[in-house]
Amino acid sequence: MRGKFLAVGVAAAASMMASVIVTDSGARAQSKAPLGLGQDAAARPWKRYPGWPAADYSKYNTLGKLATAPAPKEPRKLTGPVGGDAANGAKLVADRSRGGSCLACHVMGPAGNADLPGNVAPDLSEIGNAGREDEWLYNYVFDARVYNPETVMPPWGSHGFFSEAEIKDIVAFLKTLKSPAVFRTALDNPEKRPQPVEKRDNLDPLENPGMWAVEKGEELWKLKSASGFSCNTCHSDPKTSFKTWAASMPKWEPRLNKVLGVEEFVTRHARTTIGVDWPMETDNNRAMSVYLHFLANGTPIKVDTESAEAKAAIARGVELSKRKVGALNMACTDCHGIAVNKWIRGQWMGEPKGQYDHFPTWRTSLLAIWDIRQRFQWCSVNIRGDELPPDSKEYGDLELYLASQNQGLTMSVPGIRH
Ligand code: HEC
Ligand code: HEC
Ligand code: HEC
Repeated sequence: MRGKFLAVGVAAAASMMASVIVTDSGARAQSKAPLGLGQDAAARPWKRYPGWPAADYSKYNTLGKLATAPAPKEPRKLTGPVGGDAANGAKLVADRSRGGSCLACHVMGPAGNADLPGNVAPDLSEIGNAGREDEWLYNYVFDARVYNPETVMPPWGSHGFFSEAEIKDIVAFLKTLKSPAVFRTALDNPEKRPQPVEKRDNLDPLENPGMWAVEKGEELWKLKSASGFSCNTCHSDPKTSFKTWAASMPKWEPRLNKVLGVEEFVTRHARTTIGVDWPMETDNNRAMSVYLHFLANGTPIKVDTESAEAKAAIARGVELSKRKVGALNMACTDCHGIAVNKWIRGQWMGEPKGQYDHFPTWRTSLLAIWDIRQRFQWCSVNIRGDELPPDSKEYGDLELYLASQNQGLTMSVPGIRH
């Protein structure tokens, strides 16, 4: 056990003692960190953040369940030419309220000029010359899966983002696109747009407001709870004891039968040792997580990828990252694999390597710290899918997979991101 152990006669101490085990080798007594196993580590039922899209996406896949109706088997028949109002189509392709907009992924001639179009998908500025049949275009927009089961395109028609008449208007607009895009500024052209570079020193409190959490974490470390215990009671030298610990997380936890990350550890361990309730994604939890990561800054990420349990979890994480979820029917890899080093509208998609070493991270656009599970939640809701509670097993698998992709990178927390 690290540090001194002064616990006498309280429930925390009893549960801690009970969890002390002796290794098979008998070489040394090894204690397992006590974990409150009985309760969830996050609010139930999980409530979506105010300000996030509020709709109910329960008829679509999540990372926890399969629900999306199967793709249509046949293209829809059109009787005659598509007709449609091209001017209305031009508005619809730029309308962000329908689950994003076509311009998030496509350059579309004149329609994209004011909207920082993305380049995940082919430039459609000259699609009107491509000799595409009306019916083909109509079906590609309605539900591209009839032609390409692996498509990245959301099924705009099948999932009700646009009505049949609106899709006809969009097709009428696409047919007018016959000349290369003209951009007003270099910024509008996703091929020329400069990649964002984060130059701030993320460990300088003047530059990173998220550093509040380090101070807060340090305070919490010493704070005596009603039971008379603090973290410091049993671990008086956190700077030494936990110099590498966070860099080894997340890890498979047999007692929970899932991958355990730092934030869930904090909730469970604090509950059972000092008797406080710091549920995941609440301020004290975030602060303690930042602090524990901060102690391990400079340490290369080294998660277990070798044990049978870790391998199985990573394999599940890989599968989950490829699962189509939400009304937009997209997978993590549709953006973070296929679209890597491209723009989704004004957002540059970096590689998975470099997406973990800075979590929890300060979000300059939101003035808040997000931990990795909140990021997973947002990326799910953003594709119009229900998020899972942060302590879900699936997020554990995903986190271990992502961490394994970041193996060897040096941790630097709290990070700064847009
Ligand atoms: C999330 C990114 C994304 C969004 C948003 C998107 N598309 Fe696409 N689209 C693609 C990709 C990628 C392809 C290339 C083939 C594929 O993956 O199916 C494509 C292909 C197409 C094609 C076929 C082009 C061809 O000639 O092969 C059409 C037409 C099209 N998109 C129209 C639209 C319209 C209209 C919208 C908005 C209602 C839209 N797209 C929104 C990603 C997107
Ligand atoms: C009653 C004693 C006690 C208290 C109080 C206590 N811990 Fe622990 N903690 C342990 C024991 C026992 C272990 C397992 C042996 C070890 O790693 O030192 C442990 C392990 C840890 C570990 C390493 C976990 C791992 O996976 O090996 C961290 C991090 C930790 N504690 C953080 C905290 C924090 C944060 C607090 C305050 C909320 C706290 N501890 C309060 C007893 C305690
Ligand atoms: C529609 C595209 C899209 C999909 C699908 C998507 N993301 Fe994201 N994700 C983004 C964007 C945009 C960002 C912010 C830009 C960035 O930081 O890379 C982001 C950021 C992230 C980050 C933080 C990167 C960093 O460096 O801070 C993680 C981690 C992440 N996503 C995980 C996931 C996971 C897991 C899934 C699947 C559940 C997923 N994303 C699905 C668009 C997407």
